Amino acid sequence: MSDDKLPFSKPSIGEDEIREVVEVLRSGWITSGPRVKRFEADFAQYVGAQHAVSVTSCTAGLHLALLAHGIGPGDEVVTTAMTWPATVNMIELLGAKPVFAEIDRGTLEITPESVEAVLTEATRAILPVHFAGQAVDLDALAKIATRDDLVLIEDAAHAVGTEYKGRRIGSDGRTTCFSFHPIKNITTGEGGMVTTDDSALAERLRLLRFHGVNRDAWSRYAKMETVRDETLMPGFKYNLTDLQAALGIHQLARLDGFIERRAELASLYLETLADIDVVSTRTLAEGTTRHAWHLFVVTLELEKLRCDRDRFVELLGERGIGTGLHFTAVHLHRHYRERYGFEPGDLPETEWASDRVISLPLFPDMREADVARVCEALRDVAREVGR
Ligand SMILES: Cc1ncc(COP(=O)(O)O)c(C=O)c1O
Repeated sequence: MSDDKLPFSKPSIGEDEIREVVEVLRSGWITSGPRVKRFEADFAQYVGAQHAVSVTSCTAGLHLALLAHGIGPGDEVVTTAMTWPATVNMIELLGAKPVFAEIDRGTLEITPESVEAVLTEATRAILPVHFAGQAVDLDALAKIATRDDLVLIEDAAHAVGTEYKGRRIGSDGRTTCFSFHPIKNITTGEGGMVTTDDSALAERLRLLRFHGVNRDAWSRYAKMETVRDETLMPGFKYNLTDLQAALGIHQLARLDGFIERRAELASLYLETLADIDVVSTRTLAEGTTRHAWHLFVVTLELEKLRCDRDRFVELLGERGIGTGLHFTAVHLHRHYRERYGFEPGDLPETEWASDRVISLPLFPDMREADVARVCEALRDVAREVGR
């Protein structure tokens, strides 16, 4: 095992982030307050949305978005199994039924045709994932949603800064959920954002994220008022703190630079991997005019190997290369198998990908030499287990 490990991802935290966090610590107000308001305003402006409602995670954002749109028992929500379980779990927790559309092998994203194929009388929403930093075919999905009066909620956990046909993800005015988990393109430690142009929806989201009461703690504190709170609806405790927003403000200012650097490293990977035949790179989703390169996902050519993906990943680990796995098909996770009776073979394209994907290291502070090292390790493992 190599001592000098290359992680699969690492956040890039600068002095501005550190200074701002320290200022918050010294300010006497560390929960949701002025920094959260500024981060929300900056984020709304960056993506081109009228409202940005910050939350503790993208998972929380998905939960509130589905709830605020009234999704519940008896409803079906069309989504992908090629995702982190959060996407599907939130549908399930609201008592609605997740229905899986198939993905395209090249892009690993759901296709409008596969969404069409699973629509029923009970379908109420479509919840696509902008996979790895590219965009799904939003215009085609929006057309289906408008035609059938469905809600379109975007899981944009991977897509801060992604552009579809020249439009930033989040700028279409629907309901879009972003993640600021430490491996994402920008981080607040943990955190998320829901954007929309719908003022009534934004108001519901704000209520639902903070107990359902009519005023947040900061507005009360800033005015030194003690007004009796009124619960307008039962809500959660999903508010982002100023400590987290302090990170987010400066991370957001650096996002374009991060994406540029990720894109440079991705190009270098694409060039270097061209002659490694056990690994295939993915095709760019049509309509994606700016790939945010959240992940660099490849698939293994298992026919050329004497081992499966998990063993291949282990061998990379022994060479000091960290990898990610995005994703193991959610419909075959135990809960979903037991609840809905899913079996291998139900979603052949998704399962094909699930058996083969590997996310290679990609983060802004990586060096060109690191890409060369990953590719050398891939060659070395291929020599050991190739047919
Ligand atoms: C596609 C997708 N959706 C949702 C989430 C949940 O994001 P968070 O960790 O911010 O809750 C993730 C997290 O990795 C994800 O990859």
